[in-house]
Amino acid sequence: MNKSLIGDSMSRVDGRLKVTGQAKYSGEYKLPGLAYGVLVPATITKGTITAIDVKAAKRTPGVIEVITPFNFAGLPGFKPDAAQPVRGLKLFNDKSVSFNGQPIALVVAESFEKATYAASLVRATYQEEAFETDFHKNREKGVTPQGGKYKDYLRGEANAYKKAPVVVEQEYLQPSEMHNPMELHVTIASWEGEDKLTVYTKSQGVVSTQRTFSNAFGIKPENVQVNSRFVGGAFGSSLRTWPHEIAAAYAARLVRRPVKVTLTREQMFTLVGYRPFTIQKIGLGATADGKLLGITHESYSQTATYEEFTENSVNCSRFLYDAANCNTLYKVVPLHVGVPAPMRGPGEATGSFALESALDELSYALKMDPIQLRLKNYAERDPERNLPWSSKYLRECYELGAERIGWENRSPRPGSQKEGEWLVGYGIGCGAFGAYRGRALAKIKIMADGSVNIQSATSDIGPGTGTAMTLIASDLLGVPAGKITFELGNSAFPMAPTQGGSSTVSSVGSAVHDACMAIRQKFAALDGQSAEGPLDYVALLQKHSLPYLELTEESQSSEQAKNYSMYSFSAHFAKVHVHPLTGVVKVMRLVAVVDAGRIVSHKTAASQMIGGAVGGIGMVLTEEAIFDDKYGRYVNGNFADYHVPVNADIHQIEAIFIDKPDRYINPLGTKGIGEISLIGVAASVTNAIYNATGKRVRELPVTPDKLI
Ligand code: MOS
Repeated sequence: MNKSLIGDSMSRVDGRLKVTGQAKYSGEYKLPGLAYGVLVPATITKGTITAIDVKAAKRTPGVIEVITPFNFAGLPGFKPDAAQPVRGLKLFNDKSVSFNGQPIALVVAESFEKATYAASLVRATYQEEAFETDFHKNREKGVTPQGGKYKDYLRGEANAYKKAPVVVEQEYLQPSEMHNPMELHVTIASWEGEDKLTVYTKSQGVVSTQRTFSNAFGIKPENVQVNSRFVGGAFGSSLRTWPHEIAAAYAARLVRRPVKVTLTREQMFTLVGYRPFTIQKIGLGATADGKLLGITHESYSQTATYEEFTENSVNCSRFLYDAANCNTLYKVVPLHVGVPAPMRGPGEATGSFALESALDELSYALKMDPIQLRLKNYAERDPERNLPWSSKYLRECYELGAERIGWENRSPRPGSQKEGEWLVGYGIGCGAFGAYRGRALAKIKIMADGSVNIQSATSDIGPGTGTAMTLIASDLLGVPAGKITFELGNSAFPMAPTQGGSSTVSSVGSAVHDACMAIRQKFAALDGQSAEGPLDYVALLQKHSLPYLELTEESQSSEQAKNYSMYSFSAHFAKVHVHPLTGVVKVMRLVAVVDAGRIVSHKTAASQMIGGAVGGIGMVLTEEAIFDDKYGRYVNGNFADYHVPVNADIHQIEAIFIDKPDRYINPLGTKGIGEISLIGVAASVTNAIYNATGKRVRELPVTPDKLI
């Protein structure tokens, strides 16, 4: 075979389409007779809708229909006893209000503008009730989530840290943070008859969306076709199906026309999830020479009253460092707010901020280098599951990152270094994220002209999935990338899991790998050749008078994989400048070193790492959804007041990969990079800020007021 192409730096296969505006996003499909739906938000936070006056809205020229709980006919999947009920907020199904901004009506009109205007005329009256949105006031009402997964964890002795010679005990606050992808959430729904639905929607999972629509409307999954070919960012906000998507399909069936529902930027703050407000306590105890004796991690996180959201904020603390004693507790606090959703590095990003900050505090208490402290407590095997790692090169991450950032220039004495008028500091923050692999299918077809088509119902929310898959196929088939087309984002394609949890290359890439290997066998068998050597597909098809060969392969994790603990690991290094008078922080350099197994597509992987680091800089310095507990509403639901980092906020970011294959996870040796790109960034920056200033900020984001 040719020299391996895996690991090459190929540009995105769909890059030209994207930058020239030819890529068609879900909201851009122009269906004949398209009508426009606009949601009307509740203006109270808790209570019951007693009436909705739609007369003025209905009189507005161009308005086709106004849907409210008072004329909603119900849906099969919304019944409490439905076999596979649709979870979460069942839009229009009852008259209760559980959060401010909850949609209470949908106005359908001939244009978006007409629908928007008419929506402003809808008047609801309510029976208001007292609500609870204040996290601090309700923290003690936190409950352990349902199911065994989140029960308290104990290894050795609980709270053993308290007895150690050197102790750190602190609390850390993560405010609610919004995904805020550039592309708004949008859904176009179109019915062909009573039981056949086509949907164009912003989604990370066309198959799971198909299932939800099938359940909601009580129609066969194969009668629901979901398309999501291009997605303009998501970061977890499109992992599930949201009420506006169901609303679009319900309205389309009612008015017998395709209906498009687009959320406004402000609605994106209430209707598509967020990283939940979380307060965490970390207790660390160590010997005078830095051996950890006990780790305690307690996390309280907000959720909705109508649905429970959970994430793994305490899990890293159980295995990232080797400590005989460890206990964790995770509770959720139900408030009258919209339900959170996984957001890049869900749980682990929040958890690692707390753990890695506390570890840094411990390093100063011990007068020990933070990297030396981590090495002293290096976990050679997984202390939580008592299993060997499938692969772990975190030590190499420390070494490479320290060298690249210039760690030897770091002063152990906070506030002692300056460059010009700026204080200078260095920090490290680490993390881990499960290396998951799901069942996936891929269909491959090699044509008489030598071109190759591969299909799988995966998504690409931006990492470059099509590019990575093309590289894998090009490598294994010995066919130039230009002759390969990889198609995704269509539920009619062979099943693939939702794009989430950093698992796409591992899951879908393995299916593509297996399909390529299988079709090589099929070609080789035509002439009784060996599949090992080079194959001339065109000649073989011609010789056997075949127009093409095709097959579908299914791929999933091996039994052997269960004997190993599988994670991607990261070490992020930050060099910051802090202005002593203004408190302005600039992350001058961020070096992100990850052990994510073998890297399939270097260029897109590095882009993803940089994107994750930018998300991490937003998390640590600028992003905060500010809540007004008097009204139960966000007050900064727009891009002017909620600041997502822009070019001017970002300086130098470098992504470094260990790039060593994991032998157990999949045939490609890949782990994931999506989440690990962000996990550890926040602490690397707050730790660098401490090193620069001597000020420890335990409440994100670190805005200038917290430093002056
Ligand atoms: Mo990611 S939070 O699994 O989209």
